[in-house]
Amino acid sequence: MARTDGRPPVDQQLREAAARLGRRRFLTATSAAAALAFTTNLPSAHAADAELAPRSLKENPFTLGVASGDPLPDAVVLWTRLAPRPLEPGGGLPPAGAVRVEWEVARDERFRRTVRRGTARAYAEFDYSVHVEADGLDADRVHWYRFRVGDWTSPVGRTRTTPADGRRTEQVRLGLVSCQAYEDGYFTAYRHLAGEDLDAVFHVGDYIYEYAVDAAGGDRRYTDRTLPALYNHETATLEDYRLRYSLYKSDPDLQAAHAAFPWYVTWDDHEVENNYAAGIPEKGQSPEAFVARRAAAYRAYWENMPLRMPKPEGTDLRLYRRFQYGRLAQFDILDTRQYRSDQANGDGWQYPTPESEDPSRTLTGATQERWLLDGLRRSRAVWNVLPQQVVFSRRKNTTAERSKLSMDAWDGYPAARERILAGIERLGVENLVILTGDVHVAYALDVKRDFDDPASRTVGVEFVGTSISSDGDGAAKPANWSTLTAANPHMKFYNGLRGYTTVTLTPEHARADFRTVSHITTPGGTLATAASFVTEAGNPGLREV
Ligand SMILES: [Fe+2]
Repeated sequence: MARTDGRPPVDQQLREAAARLGRRRFLTATSAAAALAFTTNLPSAHAADAELAPRSLKENPFTLGVASGDPLPDAVVLWTRLAPRPLEPGGGLPPAGAVRVEWEVARDERFRRTVRRGTARAYAEFDYSVHVEADGLDADRVHWYRFRVGDWTSPVGRTRTTPADGRRTEQVRLGLVSCQAYEDGYFTAYRHLAGEDLDAVFHVGDYIYEYAVDAAGGDRRYTDRTLPALYNHETATLEDYRLRYSLYKSDPDLQAAHAAFPWYVTWDDHEVENNYAAGIPEKGQSPEAFVARRAAAYRAYWENMPLRMPKPEGTDLRLYRRFQYGRLAQFDILDTRQYRSDQANGDGWQYPTPESEDPSRTLTGATQERWLLDGLRRSRAVWNVLPQQVVFSRRKNTTAERSKLSMDAWDGYPAARERILAGIERLGVENLVILTGDVHVAYALDVKRDFDDPASRTVGVEFVGTSISSDGDGAAKPANWSTLTAANPHMKFYNGLRGYTTVTLTPEHARADFRTVSHITTPGGTLATAASFVTEAGNPGLREV
């Protein structure tokens, strides 16, 4: 891509920096940071970039919709990205420059009572993404927002601030979504989600997949359009990852779900590569090349998500973070991918070994683990909610005493799980609700103090949400349904259709409604509720209702 400021393109900067440093140093060295994704070229450094005249935009730049996220009592992040031709490299805008974008927030959908407005700049350096912190808002209420460039106005988004800190709140309704492989089917679940009455949505990872997408959009089997050939390979460069977000965000159902609610997002593996661990690739790449790839993937993720401006360091992007929802809930959003020890025993489903049970292994990294336990210790919320990626509870895949376990999930990091469980017991943490994705099926699980002992105390619950689209239509009872439910008595529910989960918290109970979609490989799938479970505050344990 041609540039005007004499700097090499970002991908080249990353490769060069990676080549100079070993992986460990590369990840931490501040000297590397200067060359890397986020610390260079922050928008403020680009005030001199030539500003494009808004009226020079001859095509609608708002093709990727709008989004909001990370709401606070008085603020919310508003997002959009300008891309008149989203499926072309560069999105149809010049490779350098900036565009002035106006934004406004109102108390009503028709923008008669505007409460905040301002301007932001979208920079080529960040793929013309816009992240606005709209602050000074009233707590605990719905707001509407939109953007404008020249004569073009974006779709209207609806968002919601959270209750004032410490405020007694009667209810919060949350969506739980994950795993949306574009090529596996339509985002019909999002169309239904957009029609729910929710306060916020948690996305717990696999927002994109890195695999090749063919001209027909894989199992979408398009007959009315042909996707460009540049999608038909695995993502590796910054341009690849950016284009992949453009493809996903062009989907009208996904746009509808973003426009309907604020989202709290976190990633899992496919935003970079299947089953990577910290700086270690799944296969076939040098650590240096992989870390450069990871930095490109993280940057594209940040560009495309409604995240508050992070303070990134080098190739890392801190994503774990904490929110309060009045006195009703504390959300500790985890990142179990960026700091984890490599999967033990060669990954996959394996028998536990001294390697997997090594107490030095970590899924969160020591810093995040301390941050989590410290936050739980200080929590004054009724519900302690942990949106995170991989299944926390034990899952045996045979009724025999000895069973293989998933080395990629918490089962592959039992010492790390035990430190969390022991901490919860020591701190007297009540009302733990873990929200999980990753596995493309739905489970409801009692979290046991000791998964080896079914009679041990239930210390919380885990709701595992199924995928939006990954793995195609699915089946209500997958082939291993009987085995898994028999082998894991703490598993109260298992369903393998696509869909999403709604989680309702009140001072008295937490409730999950497992919504399923009849089919997704063709449009028009219908919605059903497969099951609903509650757990009472102060009395953990799932009951079907
Ligand atoms: Fe997934």
